[in-house]
Amino acid sequence: MALIVQGGRVLMDLRSFGASNAGCAVELNHLVHHVPARAVAIDAGGVTQRALRRERRASVRDRRSLAGHRAGAAPARRRLIDHLPAQCAMDRNDGATLAPAAARAEREAFYARIGRLGMTPLWEVLGALVPQQPTSPVAPAHWRYDALREHVMEAGRLITAEEAERRVLILENPALRGQSCITQSLYAGLQLILPGEVAPAHRHTQTALRLVLDGEGAYTAVDGERTTMRFGDFIITPSWTFHDHGNDGSEPVVWLDGLDIPLVRFLDAGFAEKSTTKSQADTRPEGDALARYGHNLVPMDHAPGVAEPTRLFVYPFARTKESLEGIARGTPDAHLGFKLRYVNPATGRSPMPTIGTFAQRLPKDFATRPYRSSDSTVYVCLEGEGRATIASPAGEQSFDFAPRDVFVVPSWHAFTLAARAETQLFSFSDRPVQQALGLWRDERLA
Ligand SMILES: [Fe+2]
Repeated sequence: MALIVQGGRVLMDLRSFGASNAGCAVELNHLVHHVPARAVAIDAGGVTQRALRRERRASVRDRRSLAGHRAGAAPARRRLIDHLPAQCAMDRNDGATLAPAAARAEREAFYARIGRLGMTPLWEVLGALVPQQPTSPVAPAHWRYDALREHVMEAGRLITAEEAERRVLILENPALRGQSCITQSLYAGLQLILPGEVAPAHRHTQTALRLVLDGEGAYTAVDGERTTMRFGDFIITPSWTFHDHGNDGSEPVVWLDGLDIPLVRFLDAGFAEKSTTKSQADTRPEGDALARYGHNLVPMDHAPGVAEPTRLFVYPFARTKESLEGIARGTPDAHLGFKLRYVNPATGRSPMPTIGTFAQRLPKDFATRPYRSSDSTVYVCLEGEGRATIASPAGEQSFDFAPRDVFVVPSWHAFTLAARAETQLFSFSDRPVQQALGLWRDERLA
């Protein structure tokens, strides 16, 4: 939610307003109590909390022409107070909406005085800060690859991989525009590399995964070892390892990048460094890591630390499919189908400390029962097709997904997956972080 104050007018973007969202509630309270304004205009969208959408219709003539809206400050504020979401109203347990006007005015004057000292009353925001259950600002969202591909290719005509350093179109969650996030903690984007190009070597503290979606002939080099990128392969760039990409083939190659950029940004722990060389020298032959760590064997002296990422940095799709097909001879889990988590084979833990990754197979005509978990999750369809149905405060949303499509299920949103054909899904989330902190929960619904 954005709040712009200029010349006594307030433009409030409530398109991502979800009931009791902490950030929204804080800003809304700030507007109501502390911002001197002559006019308030509200920009609302499909996921905006319903009561506020009614308020918008009552107070804004044209959602596309907000600047022209004028309203008396006091009435507009009262309407906003009256239409605060139920949980926000509960948060304001001082009874501000119920208190006599004189008492309310006295409190508002108090809030204004302490506001100048950098203080604000907790009771105005307590419930939003400590919700009864997750109230994610993340919106369910779906990106159809067929609709995106031409734009990814157009980026290839506008800028070189070397000039861009990384030629990526970020997939921004519609409720988090401008934040380079697909969920609160994760970033995702489509990266293109054209034949003959090199995306120069660098390293950063952010951890990255690549999921190859389109084209062949590219490679990723990690810490001195190259791996050829084939459709569906899942490749890891661990934190602070040098990596570069190149395309020795004859066709454009596109993959999905998934990084923990928002999480690292939240922690203010981002560092990056460019290499002095464009491409890394090969210090190990291709396939070395897979041979050393990917066959239930490890080197004699391998003793990884707790947070050490996997040395196995490529998980070939062919091997993942083989595993899924193997377990698919059994009975599917009613809520998950056939689902496995990727692990560091030396430890059994997540290959990346900040991003959990999963491989899932749904038989033809199989539908999962409703399920929810506290980790907002990004799904990618690799093969097959089906429908994801997600329950959210804005109502139920369904996405018909096809190969290479990406969709997001926000935290604690119950959802089902129905496959129209044998379907392979890849997914990733911040689950290992939540589990390490003792926060992760899930629920299997009837
Ligand atoms: Fe990078």
